[in-house]
Amino acid sequence: MATKEEVDLARRCFLMRATTTLGGLGLAATSIPFVSYWLPSADTEAAAGPVTVDLSPLKPGEQLTVAWQGKPVWVIRRTPEMLDTLPKLNDFLRDPFSSEDQQPAYAKNIARAINPEYFVAVGVCTHLGCIPTYRPDPGSISPSWLGGFYCPCHGSMYDLAGRVYKNVPAPLNLVIPSYTYQNDHTVVIGEDSPVGAK
Ligand code: FES
Repeated sequence: MATKEEVDLARRCFLMRATTTLGGLGLAATSIPFVSYWLPSADTEAAAGPVTVDLSPLKPGEQLTVAWQGKPVWVIRRTPEMLDTLPKLNDFLRDPFSSEDQQPAYAKNIARAINPEYFVAVGVCTHLGCIPTYRPDPGSISPSWLGGFYCPCHGSMYDLAGRVYKNVPAPLNLVIPSYTYQNDHTVVIGEDSPVGAK
């Protein structure tokens, strides 16, 4: 049985999730490189099957979001500069080497990806389930910020590989779903990749 405090937190989180989603759509028109957000229809939400995503519209630094199993899944095309930030952050992260079971074996590497250029992750905060915002600009959260994801609900922070910072409420890195490449520009989310592919 949830305590009153837990119920209040969950309710606040639900409201924040709705606000974050709308806020994300607003930001799309301004500063954040963002391609699309596909809200799940009832049919899509019910479908648990794989989702095929065409990566060709994504420019370097851009994010797209698709719905899979009723959850937002992000694909971000990371630049070499973004990838360069990852090893610099290890000391500030709770699980820099992805020891916890939050990703398939083929994404257990510093980029947490099959192909480091494309980051695929479930966009749900591991604290209470809000949707973090994509904040790629260095310095946009704090002077030492090198880019990543920020959860406005209770201030959790993740780097550009979805690795959670120390001393924030979220306990775990973002989840990497099972996925595979159909070809260089097409990924299938919800279908497992042979280990070591690409
Ligand atoms: S839901 Fe609490 S920090 Fe993200």
